[in-house]
Amino acid sequence: MNASAITGLRARRVWDSRGNPTVEVEVKTASGVSGRAIAPAGASRGTREALDLRDGGTGLQGMDVRRAVANVNDHIAPLLKDMDANDQAAVDAALIALDGTPLKSKLGGNAMVATSLAVLHAAAAAKAVPLWRHVADLTDETPTLPLPEIQIFGGGAHAGRRVDVQDFMVMVPGAASFDEVLEVTSEIYRAAGSLMKAKGHSVGVADEGGWWPVFDSNEQALETLVRAIEAAGETPGERVVISLDIAASEFGSKGRYRLALEERELDRDQIIDLLGRWIKDYPIASIEDPLAEDDIEGMTAFTREFGGKVQIIGDDYLVTNADLVAAAEKAGACNAVLIKVNQAGTVSESLACLAAAKAHNYRTIVSARSGETEDVSICHLAVGLNAGQLKVGSFTRSERMAKWNECLRIGDELGGAAFVAGKPLANTWWARQSEGYSK
Ligand code: PGA
Ligand code: ZN
Repeated sequence: MNASAITGLRARRVWDSRGNPTVEVEVKTASGVSGRAIAPAGASRGTREALDLRDGGTGLQGMDVRRAVANVNDHIAPLLKDMDANDQAAVDAALIALDGTPLKSKLGGNAMVATSLAVLHAAAAAKAVPLWRHVADLTDETPTLPLPEIQIFGGGAHAGRRVDVQDFMVMVPGAASFDEVLEVTSEIYRAAGSLMKAKGHSVGVADEGGWWPVFDSNEQALETLVRAIEAAGETPGERVVISLDIAASEFGSKGRYRLALEERELDRDQIIDLLGRWIKDYPIASIEDPLAEDDIEGMTAFTREFGGKVQIIGDDYLVTNADLVAAAEKAGACNAVLIKVNQAGTVSESLACLAAAKAHNYRTIVSARSGETEDVSICHLAVGLNAGQLKVGSFTRSERMAKWNECLRIGDELGGAAFVAGKPLANTWWARQSEGYSK
């Protein structure tokens, strides 16, 4: 029997960083080694992404996953038995056919993504190579260590909607190494905490570990982030830039945007003007979901105006879907796509999205969800897919740090030259400006 043949597969219920139940799958191969993966969970979800199967009812606030676990053990395990874990495409095609629904609502996106990733791990283990190497083999990519986006303040659905904007992040494109990115970010994170304390605020953290956003306006958060970058000894816009996830679908639809914190409603043109002013006034090099997922007109107008200046990422807007990336390019909307494996539901569909992004010249950012675990698969995907960028939340809490630390380990295996540094921000104002200062 083939060493990578699947001999056993089982799911169990485990728990995520918000204390919610989730699905873990373990896959055994004929060679005796196994692979394991856990499904993450989003809070600000796109309407077109794969659905997690939750049990409903009153227990665990309806969030239990016993049906998804049973789907793996009763239906997926017999289907995949004796299949080759090395043939990810065939495994995922079998899962998709068994489910048969557009949003994976029958088996559950959570059941499917944990299975698909566990098979990927099992195949790497059977080949006795690191996961990133197996992923690079599958895609013929040259492995690279990504440029991180790291959250300093949380917001939106991750912080009780205390501010409207979901992520206030930093990127360190001017760093010479991944390690330097983390060191600079640690200084900024701590400086931001000191600024919050100095204002007399209590200093809790939001869902992804960023500081709890005790601000009177969205712009005050931006202002404080700039102060924190300065307090860490940096000149904003040089080695360090700002990245925002507006997650506008959370407060906008049908061309209207309700900023709850500031108690005002903006139309499409007004929110584009507001974000345009932020781009002018602050060193912002990347902006995600600036308009709502149903606002193609807004996204196109925004990209037309600012696409040559900043990276514009579609998350809820593109939901890791190859067809939506192709359609966005045709419409002239966004110039980058977030890759979340559980939005697509399987590894193969995520690879297809990545291939579409490369074909259409869209930048790619592999991303975690707000509900995470110790699972570090996405680090290996970001490296093996040569994605260029990685977003896993803030710089505290072990479900986040596990990912940054895993990248350091992979970096040691790859060697320093594998770090992409500021390359993903080529064709933005940062790249043009950085030519003028020496790193
Ligand atoms: P989510 O948010 O995981 O809660 O959906 C992450 C993001 O919007 O990037
Ligand atoms: Zn997002």
